Amino acid sequence: MFITLEGPEGSGKTSHIPYLVEYLREKGYIVFPTREPGGTSIGEQIREVIHDLKNVEMHARTETLLYQAARAQIVEQVIQPRLADGAIVISDRYFDSTIAYQGYGHQQDLEQVRALVKYATGGLMPDLTILLDVDVEVGLKRKKKDNEWNRLDGYTVEFHQRVRAGYLEMVKQEPARWVVVDANREWNEVQAGLRRVILERLQQS
Ligand SMILES: Nc1ncnc2c1ncn2[C@@H]1O[C@H](COP(=O)(O)OP(=O)(O)O)[C@@H](O)[C@H]1O
Ligand SMILES: [Mg+2]
Repeated sequence: MFITLEGPEGSGKTSHIPYLVEYLREKGYIVFPTREPGGTSIGEQIREVIHDLKNVEMHARTETLLYQAARAQIVEQVIQPRLADGAIVISDRYFDSTIAYQGYGHQQDLEQVRALVKYATGGLMPDLTILLDVDVEVGLKRKKKDNEWNRLDGYTVEFHQRVRAGYLEMVKQEPARWVVVDANREWNEVQAGLRRVILERLQQS
């Protein structure tokens, strides 16, 4: 099973995953966490370029393509082989982030972005995608507190609001794949919600 966590900045994706992994491993599942952009040596190098605060001149199309390069690598080098071994792969972001950020956020042509994403992933779809939905201001405030601030976090509040609205639109378009978890709540409550959603899905499959 391939599970992806999506959501605006500060929604909790990165902080929740290690605890989900531990929980599922205790239950006897083989679990492999990964993250985007990155998760491979090549991908982590691309991540540096994308996130570097100095790269102020980066065009939206450049950004979009860099993400796809990192993604193609992680799909081939990590995700597909692990899934073939029977592991549960949990990814901190996947292609829906590109639709949300580079598509809705930068207001680029969604059909073109979808075509690029399909090329990058080779068509690999998640079995379950969880949207950690958080108010934009709440999320950005959380993010500012720790020192994880990157170039994209610095985009305008309006950009981040388009991202969030984009995610909610995507949930509507593909309700069978998505589950929304309210991430405005206390961290422990959100973790419990995530565990419930994932376990339920695993027991169904
Ligand atoms: N529900 C929550 N309540 C309070 N703080 C949170 C919550 N979820 C995450 N945080 C904190 O907000 C910051 C950003 O969370 P993180 O997991 O890195 O978000 P993301 O990866 O989605 O951007 C971290 O310091 C994290 O501990
Ligand atoms: Mg994160």
